[in-house]
Order: sequence, then C-alpha cells, then structure tokens
Amino acid sequence: MIVGAQWGDEGKGKVVDLLAQDSDIVARYQGGPNAGHTVIAGGETWKFHHMPSGILAGKTCVLGAGVVIDPETFIRELDELEERGVSTEPVRVSGNAHLIMPWHVAIDQASERRLGKLKIGTTRRGIGPCYADKAARLGIRVQDLLDPKILRQKIEVALAEKNVWLERVYGAEPLVLEEVAEGYERYAQRLRPYVADTSLLVDRALRAGESVLLEGAQGTLLDLDHGTYPFVTSSNPVAGAAATGIGIGPNRIEAVLGVAKAYVTRVGEGPFPTEIEGPDQERVRDLGHEFGTTTGRERRCGWLDLVGLRYAVRVNGITSLALTKLDVLSAFAELPVCVRYRLEDGRETDEFPAHQSDFHHCRPVYETLPGWQEPIDSVSGFDGLPASARGYVEFVERELEVDVTLVGTGAERERVLARAGAAATA
Ligand code: IMP
Repeated sequence: MIVGAQWGDEGKGKVVDLLAQDSDIVARYQGGPNAGHTVIAGGETWKFHHMPSGILAGKTCVLGAGVVIDPETFIRELDELEERGVSTEPVRVSGNAHLIMPWHVAIDQASERRLGKLKIGTTRRGIGPCYADKAARLGIRVQDLLDPKILRQKIEVALAEKNVWLERVYGAEPLVLEEVAEGYERYAQRLRPYVADTSLLVDRALRAGESVLLEGAQGTLLDLDHGTYPFVTSSNPVAGAAATGIGIGPNRIEAVLGVAKAYVTRVGEGPFPTEIEGPDQERVRDLGHEFGTTTGRERRCGWLDLVGLRYAVRVNGITSLALTKLDVLSAFAELPVCVRYRLEDGRETDEFPAHQSDFHHCRPVYETLPGWQEPIDSVSGFDGLPASARGYVEFVERELEVDVTLVGTGAERERVLARAGAAATA
C-alpha cells in the first residue's frame, strides 16, 4: 500500500501510476474530491480527483467503502476518460461509500466563511460535513442510488433538516428538493453499472494471488486521529485505515510504501515548523510548481522535516520510502534538514510531540547538508546522481532507519529512479 507521509501532495499519484503497471487492482480507501493528482504519461497530462491513476494502465480501479463520492465530479472524470479513449469499464465503486450532497458543499463553504480567521482552510468540497453525517448515521450512500424510492425519501428527510441549518445558522440559500432529487436520479442512471461489492472483489483477487495496490489520499499529518487536529481532513489516510476502508483484514497488507517530498508542502491553515522564511519559500514554490491541483491555492513550502517523517514511519508502519521531487532542490547550495524540534521549555526531541501546544510552539533544529547545484532530471539511475544528492537520500535513510527505494527526479513517470535491490519492496 501507498501512503502520504506528510501533509498530502507528496506525489503519490505518480508513484501509484508507476506501480500500477505491475498490479491487478488499484483501490482507494478514504477521502474524496479533496484529493487531486496530476499524472503525466505518454506526453499527456491527466488530473484526477476521484479516479485512481491505475485507470490509465487499464487496471481494475476500486473506490472502497471509506471513500466519499461527489457524483458530479466523478461522472465528469468518467466522461473525460471515455472521451480521451480510456475505457472506464474496469471501475468499481462500493455501495457502502457515502455520497457528497449539495448541502455538504454548501455547509463546508458557509462554515469556513463563518470561522473567518479561525478557518481550517478546507478544499470546500463538502468532505467534513459528509463524513460528519456518515458518523451521525444520516448519510446517503452509493447503494441508495439503486432504489429511486429510497433515494428520494432519504434526500427529503435530510434536506428538511439541512435547509434549517443553511438558512437559520449560516444565513445561506436553502436547496430545492425537486432539483436535488432530479440531479441525483440522473447520476444514479450513469453510476449504476459501476456499483459492486468491492470488499468481496478485492478478497477474491487476493485469494487468486493477484496483486492489489491500496492508494491513500491526503497524508499522515492530515489524518483525523493522528494528524495536526483540527487542521486535518475528516478521514484517516494512515495505512491502518486501508483495511477498514476497503473491507479486508489488516493482515492482508504486506508492505507500506510511504511517499514523501524531498522537502515539505502544506495547503490550508495550521502549524508548520519547517515553513521557509524569506524568498527561498517562493523559489521552492515556483521550481516545484506548488499550487494545489484541486483549489489552485499556493502551497506553503518548507524544508524536509525528519521529525514529522519519523512519526509517519511509526503510525503507518512504513516499510520503505519514495522520496519525490529531489530535482527541485538542485537550485540550492545548502539544504537545511530538520532533525529535531526544540520545545518552548528548551528541551529537544526527535519524536513528534504528542501535545498540540508543544507542536504549535516548537522550533526546528536543522542540520545543513550540501546541495549539488546541477540538474538531475536526465539521470537514469540512482548511482548516476551527484554525490551530494545521493548523500541527501542516504542521510534520510540513516536518520529514519528505512530504505528509500524510489527517488523522483521529474514530472514524468520515467523520472522515478528505483534503487537496486530495494525495488522489490515497491
Ligand atoms: P478538507 O479535506 O477539504 O476538509 O480540508 C481539510 C484540510 O486538508 C485542509 O488543510 C486542506 O488543504 C487539506 N487537504 C485536503 N485534501 C488535500 C490534498 O489532497 N492535498 C493536500 N491537502 C489536502
């Protein structure tokens, strides 16, 4: 399985795309259209929110029970794939996945506006309100689309309550039952063929000896339970959640590949100890094209944080790492890497603070590594990298005691270097 080891946007899509070539099934287990990945393959650029990038390799693509689906976005992706000549026949969606409804989007937007300075900086795609309704047992699921009577009834019941919220609490426009119901009845027709028992499908594939790639969205530090709460998403990106999100036992997961950028980015609000001060932040942003796939927002950029990564290794059980976008660092003569945090009382720690106040107030302690200051995007093997670039990767391995098996040096699929001997893990 593949998990984001930072705050999302680590380049998981490209790694999934690469590893999907040798997999039979690619399955997503949480998140929704808040995710966005860009894949460049065969000279073509693809941007997906819902679809696992395995679709380009013609693999069975599963959206598991833990995912939330915005039918309009999803159908747009299905249509675009078909229009550009990629069959969506191998797509399967769990009937247990929850649907994002128009009131979820409206409440997400209204709630962020109301929070003002205290806002979370969500993607405003309705993710939090949808997962909240799921936990409150008020949600509408993909399988509800299969029965027009149930669908209309559930929309009616939910809307009666949501409109009160929208009007009275948020001062927003109410939604019109007829419009919502008609829209979802139309979506139902289009989505029906893709609905399946995906837990059974994945189980059967595993029993038959097929290989399944589980694809996490967002990242460890955005995890609802283990991330930097409340500046997190409303699902669990961590590896353990893949078992519940798909509906398989945790003992089926054989290897956990963590994906981390060679530096760090974060979109949205919340503490970020290694955020770069001064013009280097903009330099990293420009060189790394660090603008959100989903919202177009500028990503905040920081130096590599090994304290955060060590935590990600722990909470996910990461067995190997992919370090992406190493090429972005080629421009810098010196590369600070955060090896410890200094807490407010002066103590230093190399473990992620368990208490939010410690994390909010900590300062990064850097070790400065030499840069290589030459382009690396045409290097074809790890050993061909400049000594300082190899040194940077090896420093990460030594500090975390985890092998870095893949190194990203550019946007295309081919620009991922597999380390000899370690490739088997990936
Ligand atoms: P939400 O998931 O839209 O509720 O947003 C909650 C937080 O997660 C915000 O800080 C978002 O910027 C962040 N977030 C959600 N999805 C992604 C992602 O795919 N990449 C990076 N950040 C994300």
